[in-house]
Amino acid sequence: MTAHADREGRTGTPGRTGAPPTPGAPGPAGAPGRTGVWFIGARGSVATTATAGCAAIAAGLHPPTGMVTETPPFADSGLPALTDLVFGGHDTLDCPLSKRAEALADGGVLPHGLPSAVRAELDAADAEIRPGGPLPGDTRTDRELIAAFAADITDFTRRHGLARTVVVNVASTEPAPGPDDPRLPASSLYAAAALRAGCSYANFTPSTGLRTSALTDTVADCGLPRAGRDGKTGQTLLRSVLAPMFLQRALAVRAWSGTNLLGGGDGAALADPAAAAAKNAGKERVLADTFGTAPEGEVHIDDVPAMGDWKTAWDHIAFDGFLGSRMILQTIWQGCDSALAAPLVLDLARLLARAHEAGISGPLPELGFYFKDPDGGAPAALAEQYAALLAFAERLRGRA
Ligand SMILES: NC(=O)c1ccc[n+]([C@@H]2O[C@H](COP(=O)([O-])OP(=O)(O)OC[C@H]3O[C@@H](n4cnc5c(N)ncnc54)[C@H](O)[C@@H]3O)[C@@H](O)[C@H]2O)c1
Repeated sequence: MTAHADREGRTGTPGRTGAPPTPGAPGPAGAPGRTGVWFIGARGSVATTATAGCAAIAAGLHPPTGMVTETPPFADSGLPALTDLVFGGHDTLDCPLSKRAEALADGGVLPHGLPSAVRAELDAADAEIRPGGPLPGDTRTDRELIAAFAADITDFTRRHGLARTVVVNVASTEPAPGPDDPRLPASSLYAAAALRAGCSYANFTPSTGLRTSALTDTVADCGLPRAGRDGKTGQTLLRSVLAPMFLQRALAVRAWSGTNLLGGGDGAALADPAAAAAKNAGKERVLADTFGTAPEGEVHIDDVPAMGDWKTAWDHIAFDGFLGSRMILQTIWQGCDSALAAPLVLDLARLLARAHEAGISGPLPELGFYFKDPDGGAPAALAEQYAALLAFAERLRGRA
């Protein structure tokens, strides 16, 4: 167990409707206790879908489709129950979460009627969203911003008597910072704040987060589990299945090109070429990792606001078969982005909370299954990533 975990202790309070929390009281055997999930970008599509979806599944309104941690291999891994997750976060917008959920229902992302069915849970999470930053004109230094964000997270954890809190970055993708930029990007300020508050951390976006030399010492000393980067939900998920197939069948991939059309907040953020470049680097990594070198071809992302949260991704793969015969595989992926991402975000929060409880620290390449640009040491093929995840579930079970 880490120094942080020792200091924080555990609570034994059951779900949201149970008795008031008792910080420090031991939990029932095998139950990690009430767990905070702190979203950076808490009013965004992914965070809103995860918050509403968790409430809907916990209430038995919907099955946990897409949640890998709800499948049998994870049954005895000691993960926090969905009813024990308490949501809060930072955002720079102040639109109420219930309104965001209504907008997602109007767009067909959430089922019709769901926002009103889980209104109480959305309002409870809304009351725990604190102003993010830095907004234009904010004169606070990086150090002051980190301290302020960490204080918000610590306050949330203490007030709710939570056993621990996991911080998950689902804020808008930011451009990669330049080498001479004197300030830390916002994602790194939040990531440093998470560690300062003694929380495990997942970066579901391509933004920098903890991957900056400016935070090397902070990261090395933190003794906390962490995972990243950029959730793997569609085109890259398919690439991590198909690329190993070509390799294993000894088919020579000559070119692999892709185009994405998407709208919503993510589409708007990725209209900035610098933000799109950060995203595309992760998408292309799986090919370079699988083949040893990236084949010819590029990935493009087009913002199509009319598509809202729905994405279409095409891949065009040119490959050679026996005696140099030329062949083509084309794929079309049509997905609802937030519905693909939300269950993964809930999985990550539960796995990191349990890892933290078990005293596991450092980067977790075992969670590479979830990411486009995983932590060092993760295999590139989805099947191998899944095997590593199952071994991790076993490890968590052994320590339950
Ligand atoms: N399938 C997917 O949906 C998917 C897959 C992989 C990665 N992601 C990443 O997840 C992130 C969220 O996607 P989304 O569709 O929810 O986007 P979104 O635009 O709907 O939400 C982003 C939220 O972040 C907030 N935000 C922006 N700057 C902030 C700051 N400095 N501090 C706090 N909050 C801030 C915005 O106000 C907004 O509410 C994006 O970075 C996206 O690339 C999504």
